[in-house]
Amino acid sequence: MSTAEFSMIEMIKEKRLGHAHSPERMAAFVQKLVAGELPDYQVAAWLMATVFQGMTLDETTELTRLVAHSGEVLDLSTIPGPCVDKHSTGGVGDKVTLVFAPLLAVCGATVAKLSGRGLGHTGGTIDKLEAIPGFNTSLTDEQFLQQLRDHRVAVAGQTKDLAPADGILYALRDVTNTVESIPLIAVSVLSKKIAAGADAILLDVKAGSGAFMPTVESAKELSRVMLEVGDRLGKKVICVVTGMDQPLGHEVGHANEVAEAIATLKGEGPADLTDLCIHLGGLLLAASGVTRTAAEGEVRLKAAIADGSALQKFREMIVAQGGDPAVVDDPTLMPQPKFRIPVPARASGYVQRLDALTVGGAGKLLGAGRMTKGEAIDLAVGIHLSKKEGDRVEAGEPLGFLLANDEAKAAAAAEVLQQAYTIGAAQPTLEPLVKAVLGPESLVGAR
Ligand code: URA
Repeated sequence: MSTAEFSMIEMIKEKRLGHAHSPERMAAFVQKLVAGELPDYQVAAWLMATVFQGMTLDETTELTRLVAHSGEVLDLSTIPGPCVDKHSTGGVGDKVTLVFAPLLAVCGATVAKLSGRGLGHTGGTIDKLEAIPGFNTSLTDEQFLQQLRDHRVAVAGQTKDLAPADGILYALRDVTNTVESIPLIAVSVLSKKIAAGADAILLDVKAGSGAFMPTVESAKELSRVMLEVGDRLGKKVICVVTGMDQPLGHEVGHANEVAEAIATLKGEGPADLTDLCIHLGGLLLAASGVTRTAAEGEVRLKAAIADGSALQKFREMIVAQGGDPAVVDDPTLMPQPKFRIPVPARASGYVQRLDALTVGGAGKLLGAGRMTKGEAIDLAVGIHLSKKEGDRVEAGEPLGFLLANDEAKAAAAAEVLQQAYTIGAAQPTLEPLVKAVLGPESLVGAR
């Protein structure tokens, strides 16, 4: 099918009726999408039809390939390697990449990472990095490659050079409630990973209320699709299913999440975030052959935090991407909120549940998420969670603080944050964060 013969109306109808698209129709779609020839309302209608009707594995694989090739697909063969990449399917308070990228880069891997902006109720690494004054997330392919040669780490967003079709679909999915679809997530995640060119890819597949996959079983299903598509497209992929019932760490937002990542690189971060970074990092160091086992990788990663080299690498990455490295010593140089408003507990007891989706919703009410495409978000606002699951709290004590710039929005968010907490007499038993590791034995075996 040529682009002249292509009809978006027919494509929407085909998917609405539950039929599979031909590779030729999908190729024409991606070409027209990137050329800016498709109106948002038609693309949004197709996205919604896809959420309801799904895609076959063949369609998912072909669309992933097309979206990856909608810009440059980087050839990292001349970059000192092994080149690795990591991606999360999205969560609340998930700032793992900010810690993980510099950490892996000082431990013998080269980290070539394309990230996204906020999606639905979840935050995005690219928005978070933009809280650092001057930080450029929009690198050309040449800039991306040069930075890898010079610094062994680069974190950038989709651009007109790199996975542009994902950039367009992603921005629309964010504001049309069309994120929760296994094939659309697989296409979005893997197309970026293929465009960025890494040899070994670790996917952190989140499961729980704050994730797009609500259960471990559905997260495993998404993992199986991504493993199969990755394999068909010649990529080494590992999927780690991790819990996202409560937010990761204590900070949800943008500037405050970067500050928490910096604290983690200094060895002063919360245990859940630190442990997850070390665990995922160990697996990827072993899968990419940097270390013999994940346990050996973990020792190396912990040493890089303890001796300050990971923090130094983060500073170096900020400078390379035009940002102000002084934020590492003084995080208040990032956008700060006018108000820090405590949200007091209404009862004494233990936090039995802290619902990540509801916390994400409170963050959006404060202005930390987009309601319409391209909307500016407020990088200063967010939530500090003083109490997390398992913690004891007395009535009147703060459950957390709203970091706000608008008192009316804060009043609405305070009510929502109250609803995120369930407080009861019994101390809950906390579940381990890592639920499953899936992938070929050759990659996940060295544990
Ligand atoms: N991360 C992505 O890049 N895309 C998704 O669809 C979900 C998470």
